[in-house]
Amino acid sequence: MTLYGVGLGPGEADLVTVRGKVTLENCEVVYSPGRLSRTVALEHVDESKIGDLDFPMTKDEEKLRAAWKEAASEIAPNARDGDVAFVTLGDPNVYSTFGHLRRTIDAFHPDVDLEIVPGVSAVTAFATALGVEIEAGAGLSLREAAGGHSPTGPDRMILFKVTDTPATHEGLVEAGYDVTYGRRLFMEHGQTIVTNDPQVVDERDYYTLAYAEKADLEVEQATAAFTRDDADESDTSSEEDSTTSDELVADGGELIDLERAEGCAHGDCGGHR
Ligand SMILES: C[S@@+](CC[C@H](N)C(=O)[O-])C[C@H]1O[C@@H](n2cnc3c(N)ncnc32)[C@H](O)[C@@H]1O
Repeated sequence: MTLYGVGLGPGEADLVTVRGKVTLENCEVVYSPGRLSRTVALEHVDESKIGDLDFPMTKDEEKLRAAWKEAASEIAPNARDGDVAFVTLGDPNVYSTFGHLRRTIDAFHPDVDLEIVPGVSAVTAFATALGVEIEAGAGLSLREAAGGHSPTGPDRMILFKVTDTPATHEGLVEAGYDVTYGRRLFMEHGQTIVTNDPQVVDERDYYTLAYAEKADLEVEQATAAFTRDDADESDTSSEEDSTTSDELVADGGELIDLERAEGCAHGDCGGHR
């Protein structure tokens, strides 16, 4: 039988893939490392199937190894007897707790079969939420920016774990970047915020990322030459088309407060903040 690492996507229940949903439904136990992933999993399986795992919020490697060994020895016997899942927000292979579990299972329980069901990662979901297009041919780098860190260098970066937005912002602007912040994107719990103003998101919330793009970046796209005047002159243009275009512009705007829901303590954090 099999241990499935299932990516749940950014947080909204209907952004779990069809394969992820079917896998969760077919598994006998669904292990969750944190409150947010548990909440999303509960949209698809009954609470009686959930196996909670406890991980210390520590960077102490000894304590982490001990916690993962314990988790693996809890999961492995059930994965030998039947199918079980371990859920993570986003994708299991992107900055995720699942890597720790996979390595620990490989070392101590190598007879357990392992399979991964990919999820919609914040790495891609951010683009829609922030109204950003990463056009064909463009480069995009993934970095961490915890504790006010401001990594620089690439033309375009997604920064994860942005916990001190004013400090990170200062370094990025100094280095010539335009920055947009996204908090709790496509999440059912907490307030979703998209903003260019670091003060709006200065309160620490682990589920915050930033998109930084060099301010002097020149992007040349064949279709960028089109203007609204071209559309007005075109016989084929319709009112319906221009409404869609307006909506897209609004989506990329200054601040979008998409949703306000009950705040939620979190534990789905890669475990090691
Ligand atoms: C440990 S990483 C987990 C990434 C996850 N495995 C994925 O593929 O999206 C956690 C970081 O991802 C970012 N993140 C994940 N989901 C997010 C969301 N829904 N909205 C904003 N940022 C998110 C935040 O920067 C957070 O600090």
